[in-house]
Amino acid sequence: LHIAVLMGGWSSERPVSLMSGNGVADALEERGHRVTRIDMDRNVAARLAEAKPDVVFNALHGTPGEDGTVQGMMDLMGLKYTHSGLATSVIAIDKELTKHALVPHGIPMPGGRIVASEELYQRDPLARPYVLKPVNEGSSVGVAIVTEGGNYGNPIGRDVAGPWQKFEHLLAEPFIRGKELTTAVIADRALMVTELKPKTGFYDFDAKYTEGLTDHICPAEIPDEITEACKDIALRAHRLLGCKGTSRSDFRWDDEQGVAGLFLLEVNTQPGMTPLSLVPEQARHCGMSYGDLVEAIVADALA
Ligand code: DAL
Ligand code: MG
Repeated sequence: LHIAVLMGGWSSERPVSLMSGNGVADALEERGHRVTRIDMDRNVAARLAEAKPDVVFNALHGTPGEDGTVQGMMDLMGLKYTHSGLATSVIAIDKELTKHALVPHGIPMPGGRIVASEELYQRDPLARPYVLKPVNEGSSVGVAIVTEGGNYGNPIGRDVAGPWQKFEHLLAEPFIRGKELTTAVIADRALMVTELKPKTGFYDFDAKYTEGLTDHICPAEIPDEITEACKDIALRAHRLLGCKGTSRSDFRWDDEQGVAGLFLLEVNTQPGMTPLSLVPEQARHCGMSYGDLVEAIVADALA
């Protein structure tokens, strides 16, 4: 096959996407496919039209690329592409819209509210501890955890600049103590649960992409009931949102509360494919190599 691998772009996750995209492209070449690597710029439509691939592997993360814009363009061009389509992407990139789509179906997600960044100078939007996050970023870009004793991540305060300040609105959610869990869905099957144990602080950008900063416990050493609940929620969320190819659902679990303490944080429709990423890791534990995973995602796009 002739496969265009779309990567890079100009989102805040550009470096992550380049890692994902180059990993995918190498694997596809090893499997004998002809690969055109495209670092997305404003001419992406012209470059895709010129390449005329059989299928596009979308290895973009963040906005644009994970948010429906590029998917809509490829729909108009009549191109086949991997991962979720336009409508799913628009909803899933937005953590607030995702709640509107899933909570009415009984999927447990944290409460909270959208808050104007300006308001943060005046008062806490919720009782501490709480989490502040942009609605449509990935890889923990712009995330802060505000505690009684201080703040992890990007500090918040009148005199302290934080990356979150570039966002007009943020999502404030109660901080859920306990464990960070994640579940991949591939080919309409929830694989397993991984626990992420950062050695310091929380599972932020550095902890995600620096070798050795986070222990991945795969499969997670948690009660079967919680494993099954994560897999059930991940698969239901994948289906309810209409995800295609693969998705990864991220959770917090308050281990003092049993299954009532389990909350879905978000569904990632363009999960990372870097060497430290979680979907390839779970696939490997299920006997599926990185190359097999990439081939499976391509096959799904052509089905
Ligand atoms: N946003 C990153 C790429 C992830 O979800 O893996
Ligand atoms: Mg994410």
